Amino acid sequence: METQTQTPVTTISHIGQHDGQTVTIRGWLYNKRESGKLIFPIFRDGTGVVQGVAPKNQVSPETFETLKNLTDESSVIVTGKVRADKRAPGGYELDVTEVQVVQRVPEDDPFPIARKEHGIDFLMENRHLWVRTPRQCAILRVRAEIVRAARNFFDERGFTLTDPPILTPAACEGTSTLFSVDYFDDEAFLTQSGQLYIEATAMALGKVYSFGPTFRAEKSKTRRHLTEFWMVEPEIAYAQLDELMELAENFISHLVQSAVANRRADLEIIGRDISKLESIKAPFPRITYDQAVEMLHEGHAKGLVEAKFEYGGDFGSPDETYISSQFDKPVMVHRYPAKVKAFYMEPDPQRPDLALCVDVLAPEGYGEIIGGSQRIGDYNHLVQRIREHDLPESAFKWYLDLRKYGGVPHSGFGMGIERAVAWVCGLEHVRETIPFARTLTRIYP
Ligand code: 4AD
Ligand code: MG
Repeated sequence: METQTQTPVTTISHIGQHDGQTVTIRGWLYNKRESGKLIFPIFRDGTGVVQGVAPKNQVSPETFETLKNLTDESSVIVTGKVRADKRAPGGYELDVTEVQVVQRVPEDDPFPIARKEHGIDFLMENRHLWVRTPRQCAILRVRAEIVRAARNFFDERGFTLTDPPILTPAACEGTSTLFSVDYFDDEAFLTQSGQLYIEATAMALGKVYSFGPTFRAEKSKTRRHLTEFWMVEPEIAYAQLDELMELAENFISHLVQSAVANRRADLEIIGRDISKLESIKAPFPRITYDQAVEMLHEGHAKGLVEAKFEYGGDFGSPDETYISSQFDKPVMVHRYPAKVKAFYMEPDPQRPDLALCVDVLAPEGYGEIIGGSQRIGDYNHLVQRIREHDLPESAFKWYLDLRKYGGVPHSGFGMGIERAVAWVCGLEHVRETIPFARTLTRIYP
């Protein structure tokens, strides 16, 4: 395609560096206002939004007509002179001189996402178009920042990224949420977590992490569950539970503070109360499962928790919400009963019915964002747990080898990126935190 001018091409985010100059931007018509002989087209280009100004007596008749007939989300290459204006949202306006329409959205089939309220089903069905709207763009930029900050955190602390396989022969987190795949006439599964494999690379490299897609055939429709989500998982040779909890609180502080420092404007677009995030700094409160249960019982006595929690069970979402509502920072709940947790967790030597594990519950009702533990070190004990959980021993032979050839105490955790982003952005549901959410009821678009 030929460009119509020789002026420098720039992005809306950099427009301030061209005050007084004529520049070209390539994007879409976001919206437009008209008042008599004046048109104010608002352009977006993925880096920001800028308002153009086109007075009838100052632009060519063709340009004026083009703008007058331009439909929302038509793609355009626009040339104009940058002018500082304190009242403009980004601080600058563009005095439009030329508009080249790349593709015009037809009048009789307009962009489906209008600037009015739509139901969530409609928006999810049109997710490929919904992602263009400013709020969704802001959320995706916050997600990208949290991903970047997560990688940085581990890279700077001497962790080596080791990518585990996605196709696996066995379960990591229970057999009830496995997606199975036909693997050349054998049955294979989509990974639920990279953990088992990074336990092996941790024995090779000491401190490792993985960051990739994970899958759970979750049959529940909740605001916290996706069937495909991205998990970041560190694993550390020789680390025990206390060291793991320290890592977890520093990690979360780093993610939240990076988002606040580098994505403030986006958090504002989303409407997040940023003051609630500014105070998220380590150390975080730590309570045992027993203390958490006590808290739930007190809440029940005061009429704040509906049903009396039965000691020994796993916490449901309302329980987690109540526990976390007692704190304004994330709370680390450690030492759950081993029987509600995964097969690989090391028991507490003081109380073998408890696992040396930790769940980090986010404030404001966001629930569990991190799950982690110390791993079983003893070969025979691990064999016993694999049998108790009815897991296929042959598929775990290699995993058992790690306890035979230089086994050491080791620990790790996993954080689902989408839950972290939902909390940082203050969103109702995780489905908006990933470009294309996969849930029980949705695999389109
Ligand atoms: O607590 P989970 O199941 O722990 C593990 O998978 C361990 N193997 C991790 C490890 O120790 N390396 O999952 C870890 C985190 C949860 O705290 C949550 O943030 C996220 O993964 N998660 C989900 N996020 C979205 N949708 C789902 N269905 C999720 N299931 C877990
Ligand atoms: Mg968990």
